[in-house]
Amino acid sequence: MGQALRFAILLVLGLGFVTWGTSVLVDRTTREWFEKDVSLRARLAVSGARRALVTHWHEEPPSDLRGLLSEITDDERILAAAACNADLTFLARTKYFPSQLSCGEIEHRIRATDASPSEQVPWRSLEVLPGGNVHVSAIPVGDRDQGLGFVVLVHDLSFVQRRAATSRLFLLITFGSLALAAAGITVVAARLARRKWSDDLRMGLRSGSARPEFQPVVRDVRELVDRIVAEKQSDREGEAWNPKRLKRTLNRYLRGEKVVILANREPYVHEKPKCGEGIRVVHPASGLVTALEPVMRACSGTWIAHGNGSADRETADRHGRVRVPPGEESYLIRRVWLTPEQEKGYYYGFSNEGLWPLCHIAHTRPIFRSDDWAHYKEVNQKFADTLLEEVDSEDPIVLVQDYHFALAPSLIRQHLPRATIIMFWHIPWPNSQRFGICPWPKHLLEGMLGASILGFHTQSDCNSFVDCVDRFLEARVDREQGAVVQHGRSTLVRAYPISLDWPCQWTTKVPPVEQCRASIFKELGLESDALLGVGVDRLDYTKGVEERLLAVERLLERFPKFRGRFTFAQLAAPSRTLIDRYRQLNENIEQVAARINERFGQGNYRPVVLLRTHHEPPTVFQYYRAADVCYVSSLHDGMNLVAKEFVAAREDEGGVLVLSQFTGAARELTEALIVNPYDIDEASSALAMALHMSEDEKRDRMRSMRAFVSEFNVYRWAGRMLVDAARLRTRDRLTGRLTDHFDISANVASRL
Ligand code: F6P
Repeated sequence: MGQALRFAILLVLGLGFVTWGTSVLVDRTTREWFEKDVSLRARLAVSGARRALVTHWHEEPPSDLRGLLSEITDDERILAAAACNADLTFLARTKYFPSQLSCGEIEHRIRATDASPSEQVPWRSLEVLPGGNVHVSAIPVGDRDQGLGFVVLVHDLSFVQRRAATSRLFLLITFGSLALAAAGITVVAARLARRKWSDDLRMGLRSGSARPEFQPVVRDVRELVDRIVAEKQSDREGEAWNPKRLKRTLNRYLRGEKVVILANREPYVHEKPKCGEGIRVVHPASGLVTALEPVMRACSGTWIAHGNGSADRETADRHGRVRVPPGEESYLIRRVWLTPEQEKGYYYGFSNEGLWPLCHIAHTRPIFRSDDWAHYKEVNQKFADTLLEEVDSEDPIVLVQDYHFALAPSLIRQHLPRATIIMFWHIPWPNSQRFGICPWPKHLLEGMLGASILGFHTQSDCNSFVDCVDRFLEARVDREQGAVVQHGRSTLVRAYPISLDWPCQWTTKVPPVEQCRASIFKELGLESDALLGVGVDRLDYTKGVEERLLAVERLLERFPKFRGRFTFAQLAAPSRTLIDRYRQLNENIEQVAARINERFGQGNYRPVVLLRTHHEPPTVFQYYRAADVCYVSSLHDGMNLVAKEFVAAREDEGGVLVLSQFTGAARELTEALIVNPYDIDEASSALAMALHMSEDEKRDRMRSMRAFVSEFNVYRWAGRMLVDAARLRTRDRLTGRLTDHFDISANVASRL
């Protein structure tokens, strides 16, 4: 339709131009005709009076000659007349003869027009008067072979303009009507053609027998409809999202193509112990790994990551590939080796001293160095190149993870224009003013827009991203569809809140609650009636660990009955230790914990137990199960999966979650005690409330949160992204078919 309209507009413009050109031509031709006409009339008038003119030419006084001239001007279109002698003086003039005309001037103009009075031809018009509405003719008068001079006639030509205007109007109306009729016919024809296409397509879809040229399109549409119906049915029937359903979705929607993940952190790190023999497999403390590993197991494929374990090289083949999980081996890790300089610039520098503090409101100043940026670009390119080695089709499904790879989507898109690229940003997205702190905002946004789908945890992150695009790029933002369109390609920007596998794999690998409680209490040297709080984090300044310990201190200050009875165990996995800010955080936490222990410790009792080492997931889950309360106090967090892990661990429906309002999880786990971690009094009250809470209330709250996490699990998270990607892919394929087969624009095809 848009194309037909454009054609119609062009047609109208074209016809308008032709009309204008023609009317100019008509004007000129009409004027020439009328000038010829008046010249002829002038000659006739003068030759009719010639004998009398010759007779009275030299008479004195010239009253008869003037009378003759007046008779000639009786013609309504002859305004004035004069007789010029051969010596170029006036012999006689009528009353209204223009004073600015002299015989000499007229003769001069006659010469300039190359005519000659002796040639006895009608001389050309002499437009000597302003306005151009008069025509001046000079007709020679002679007696036998002797030239006496010439008669000058001034004609009124204003009627010519009136007639030309009428002809122009007529022409305009004629051409205008023609243009409108042609445009109307074009639009109607295009509409009918489109309706016919749509009807044929619809008939083909209903009957199953489409015209041959429609068959591939019909096949794709039927497939898409079948999938949507099946998906809706599964939802209606309340089918839970689980690995099977995710795998089925992948097979059904994306024809079982394998998934390729690009992430900085690998799910299994091979480490050589500092002392002793053998190689240890470590599960890194990473929300990203926690969420994506079960997805990868369900889907199979390849996970491309930085290989930084001390035994990573020796456990991988010569291409850096290793099958995982150990013993199960359902997918591949492809390790990328980085030089120490690259790791420093790309990971520690640009990613974690630049983007990380830029995206988190935690009052740490972002540092952007151009050397780091150069390494960031280089490593993004290196990962994109590695991905090209790993894919086996032209339209693979690629999942690009996190802020380490903002440039990768467009680098991949350059080589694989038909790839389905889903980028998920695991951390918050800053507002546009803050984002402008980064010296390379356009590069980052353009890099990310290479993706087909861009996922964030919350709608407000999506909105901030779209605001940044609006501010820094020349791109069309479709807020209704949640899409950004650039260079004719659109990227969906959607909220997909991340989650855990359900049932969480680690719950099956740890003993029941009572046993966990007994063994952890024993390990910490706690009495059986003691109360235990836990915190589990990477040691990061965004997690609010200092504020958390201050809340514990305040609790003990305000409620002395918890002194000697309440212990808070903080599991803190060392993280990014080469960065000063992280080292400083480590020292601060140590000091705060020491001060609290000094203030409130007695004998063997230590209110804060700081466990600063990596803990494998089964140990972490034992702590969750042993705890009365878990406090997640992030100052800013995309989602925070520790909160969800705590909920998943509590199969007994016990324990209380105290949760920062600045986490994505606080929007979903509304039955937690939601606090502002900066408000130490409020947080300490929440801890007290948790420790006082009745068993019934704990159960109600935990049951409701567990119901939520079980339904909105990570298989659903991945499934929804894959379903959206599959729809996008089918839509692109359909659009491609329609544009190829029927020679219509992608815009039109996508709306058919
Ligand atoms: O939270 C952002 C994130 O990349 C997570 O996805 C992950 O849990 C964490 O940071 C891990 O950080 P790193 O890989 O630097 O140890």
